[in-house]
Parts: sequence; structure tokens; C-alpha cells
Amino acid sequence: MALQDGTADFDAIVLGAGAAGMMCAAAVGQRGLRVALVDHAEKPGKKILISGGGRCNFTNINTEPKCFLSENPHFAKSALRRYQPADFIALVERYGIAWHEKTLGQLFCDGSARQIVAMLLAECRKGDVTLMLGRKVCDLTYKAPFFTVKLDTQTCRAPKLVLATGGPSIPKMGATGFAYDVARKFGLDVVPPRPALVPFMLGQEQRHFTALAGVSAETWARLGKTAFREAFLFTHRGLSGPAILQISSYWRPGESIVLDLLPDQPQGWLTHIKRKRPKTTLRGVLAELLPARLGQTIAHALPEMSDADATAPLVSFADKKLGAIEARLAGWPFTPTGTEGYAKAEVTAGGISTAALSSRTMAAKKLPGLYCIGECVDVTGWLGGYNFQWAWASAVAAGENM
Ligand code: FDA
Repeated sequence: MALQDGTADFDAIVLGAGAAGMMCAAAVGQRGLRVALVDHAEKPGKKILISGGGRCNFTNINTEPKCFLSENPHFAKSALRRYQPADFIALVERYGIAWHEKTLGQLFCDGSARQIVAMLLAECRKGDVTLMLGRKVCDLTYKAPFFTVKLDTQTCRAPKLVLATGGPSIPKMGATGFAYDVARKFGLDVVPPRPALVPFMLGQEQRHFTALAGVSAETWARLGKTAFREAFLFTHRGLSGPAILQISSYWRPGESIVLDLLPDQPQGWLTHIKRKRPKTTLRGVLAELLPARLGQTIAHALPEMSDADATAPLVSFADKKLGAIEARLAGWPFTPTGTEGYAKAEVTAGGISTAALSSRTMAAKKLPGLYCIGECVDVTGWLGGYNFQWAWASAVAAGENM
């Protein structure tokens, strides 16, 4: 494989030994091509290992194109159709990895995320993939028909190059915006990246809620026409929990989100309680229906009521006023001052523009030997296994069409 000048020759070089990179290298190798899989980290699949609380939420059986954000919502359809959750489940089962559905179609390992990394490494071994870990990419050039990748200790050359180095979320794990730099260098557009699936921060005027850090409840979190029904959580800095992480991917600075604090109450519930239990107080009702500390805080934060009103019997309020309170509780507005950024973002939205890529093969239209897969592409899934499903599907699309 080594040329006379010490350069190693391959049919394909895959940069990034994460979810997408390992899957793609295995697919290419198993077709009989010589593949190098390069990563600057000493170990592969670091994000897989920490995913799903260590059990890896490896797919979602409800995967549909609508569960992905992209400037082109149609782009992911082809790859997702050709490699489906059932395909990955079949792979997992071939390796005897036990799994379970937790909630909302989310599939997790019964044991450990380490099993998924071990499985992907075994698939790479089947394809005779040359694993090059702990290698820094010092230079990357293209001179038809070869890409030349200069590593700190060696140089590799191949007519195909796969960018699978993910996005910059969680930089302390070695995540970088390397793929964007390479894409730009080769003339591919990059949709401005932004942290997604990320907690919100609240400003001074909503800081009284941070005293509720640790309190969580069910909600409908809404932003425009987008809504998620899951739990939310108060933190020391603002808001988190699945409903918040989901809506954060759609949020832009300056926008307000609204939370339905009592998503299971039918319309007119407060006047109904007033008729049945006229002496009860709003504070008492909210403390019954919500976690007690949240109920108390909300009762005193309602702009429709004074502090004294919160402890007055419901019978002393007109139905119209109770209707206004109901409406407020069903759409409590929060205007985040920002997100907790890449340090806490589970994924990065935006990335290499899909307009630059073939949706069938993930190859760059301008430079067909270059492929972009996984999180570095402008396709971002909801919380719940969708991002790994995109990593697998885009990897297979590239790997089988190379
Ligand atoms: P990924 O980030 O996995 O891999 C990129 C690889 O490139 C890494 O190995 C990195 O070291 C390497 N690299 C980066 N820069 C480089 C450079 N300059 N040179 C060489 N190598 C470089 N998703 C999901 O579906 N279910 C889940 O349960 C979770 N859970 C979860 C928890 C947490 C805490 C996080 C941060 C993320 C998740 N995710 C998730 C998201 C999921 O981890 C993510 O979408 C995929 O790992 C993306 O796969 P990629 O292969 O594209 O990138």
C-alpha cells in the first residue's frame, strides 16, 4: 500500500471515526475497497459512548423526514428511505445486542453504548478498514484525481474523501468545525452553524424562575407552528428538559417560546373548579396540579393577579378573569436571552449546504470525489435517536454509491 515516497495509497479516506465515519468506512471496505479511517481522537465513537446516558438511543422507529431540520427539507428523504431504522435494528440484532423502546419510538441498548461502538469496529474489521487514530490532519489538498491528506506522521492519498468530522458541539470532546473549513476550501457553501438541542438561558426579569432549579413538569412547548409535548425543567440558568431541547433547534435570538403549563386541562377547567369548590384558592389549585413549588411561583407571577388574589377564594373572581388566567397558563411566554451554546448543545444545526451535495450519494456536485455525511451536513434531527439514524443513513448512501 505504501508508495515509494512513503505515501499510503487507498481507494477512500474517511475523516472522522464517529457514528457516520465508522458506518461509512465499514460499508466501503466491505465492498472490497481499501479504506483509511482517520481521527484525531485516540478512541473512536466518543459521542456514541456518552449518548443516551451511556445506553445510546441508536435510532427512532418513527423516523420521518419531518423530524429533521434543513434549509432543504426534502434532501434527507432519499437516504432515510434507503436505510431505515429496521436496517439498523437488524444489524444490532445480528450482533446479539439487546435493546428496548423507552418512549416515543426511541430505541436504546439494554446494556451499554460500548456495544454499538464494538459492533461498528467489528464491521470495519470485516471490511479490512485501516484505522488511524490519534492522527492530526496537517494539510489536505486535491489534485485530480487524488486527495492528499498529510497527517502528522504520514501522508495518505485516495481518489475519494469522506468528511465525517461532525459539528462543533461539545468541543471538550474534540468536536471541531473542521468539516466546514474543508467544505469552504473546496467551494461548498456552509449554512451558518448554530447550537441545537440546547438549554436556554433566562434574563434578569425571569430569574425568579431559576429558584425552581430542578423542578420539572409536562408541557407543550411552542414556537410558531412547531410544538413538542414532553417534559421541561428549570435550571440554575434557565430552561432545559426534552421539550426545551426540541424547541431550541427551531429558535432564533429574540424569539419567545410559550409553554402550556397544564397541557391536560380541558378548556374552562378553572371556572369548573370555581363552581365545584368555590372556597378554594388559585394558589391551592395550582399547587395540586403542578409540582408544589412551581404552582406557588406561578400563582404569584400571574400578571392578571395581585399577591392577595393568589390566596383569595376562586368565587371572588369573574369567569372572564379566570378565563384570562387559564389562557396565560396555557401559553406562558419565555424570552430566552440565549442558549448555553456549543458547550452544552447535543448537536449543531446548519452545516455544509445540501444544495452542494447529491441527495442520493452525498457527493459534492462540484467535486464528485468528495462526500459529506452525518452531522457536518445541514440536516439536524429531533431529540430521540434521529441524529444517529441520519448518521447511519447518510453513511450508507455514500458508502454504497462510491
Ligand atoms: P461525530 O461527532 O460522532 O464524529 C465526528 C468524529 O470526527 C469524532 O470522532 C471526532 O473526534 C472527529 N473529528 C472532529 N474533528 C476532527 C479533525 N479536525 N480531525 C480528525 N478528526 C476529527 N444522537 C442520537 O441520535 N441519540 C442519542 O442518544 C444522542 N445522544 C447524544 C448525547 C450527547 C451528550 C451528545 C453530545 C450528542 C448526542 N447525540 C445523540 C447526537 C449524536 O451523537 C451525533 O449526532 C452523532 O454522533 C453525529 O455523528 P457524526 O459521525 O456525524 O459525528
